[in-house]
Amino acid sequence: MKLAVNVDHFATLREARGSDEPEPVLAALLAEQAGAKGIVCHIRRDRRHIKERDLKLFREAIKTKLNIEMCATEDNQRLSLEIKPDVVSLVPEREEELTTEGGLDVLSSQDHLSPFVKTLQSSGIKISVFVDPDIEQINACNKLGVDLIEINTGKYTELKPGPQRQTSLQQIKKSAQHGEELELEIHAGHGLDYRNIHPITQIPQIKEFSIGFAIVARSAMVGIEKAVKEMINLIQ
Ligand code: PXP
Repeated sequence: MKLAVNVDHFATLREARGSDEPEPVLAALLAEQAGAKGIVCHIRRDRRHIKERDLKLFREAIKTKLNIEMCATEDNQRLSLEIKPDVVSLVPEREEELTTEGGLDVLSSQDHLSPFVKTLQSSGIKISVFVDPDIEQINACNKLGVDLIEINTGKYTELKPGPQRQTSLQQIKKSAQHGEELELEIHAGHGLDYRNIHPITQIPQIKEFSIGFAIVARSAMVGIEKAVKEMINLIQ
């Protein structure tokens, strides 16, 4: 199981003062040196944290894997073809949201997504879809021909330990098993932290975790190297 670190909130901190510190690309390199196997960022339409210049610098500097989250718009298709990340992760995006609120509804947007997916794949970019733990949505991702899925762990992470959280965990497990049967690579993420990740690490089909906020918050206390290594220890 691998850790990919989402560095958006180093950029959030930079934007809080309209400054040029902290530098997200430096955070990305330090995360890689600490053992992260990929760097993730979300280019939002409002550019509230990550900007085009960050994407260009990431592309030049990152040695592991660059995964850019975005919604499927024409502008983002153009930007992806220019930057050429290793992976584009398709996410829904609502302007007022604090963070991604749920998985993409692939079932009802196949026709819109299909040309976007094919164009990027034909230029060598892998496509991931952020999807709720829902069998029908995962079947739709498979039909769309994506390379991998990232199962949304957000609901699980919002629940306190108890029966409801167990049900949510079971849904994630079943979805991961189903995705693997369809020969999709399975990732998971959203809301994962140092306290809630353990049960998710017991799902062997999940090959990679995408974690941002918890690692950035811990980095402020103990430094990024320690924060990343502590998470890798929990995952392994
Ligand atoms: N996966 C996706 C698709 C996301 O949008 C985010 C948040 O940007 C994450 C994972 C990481 O979530 P968190 O910051 O809660 O770890």
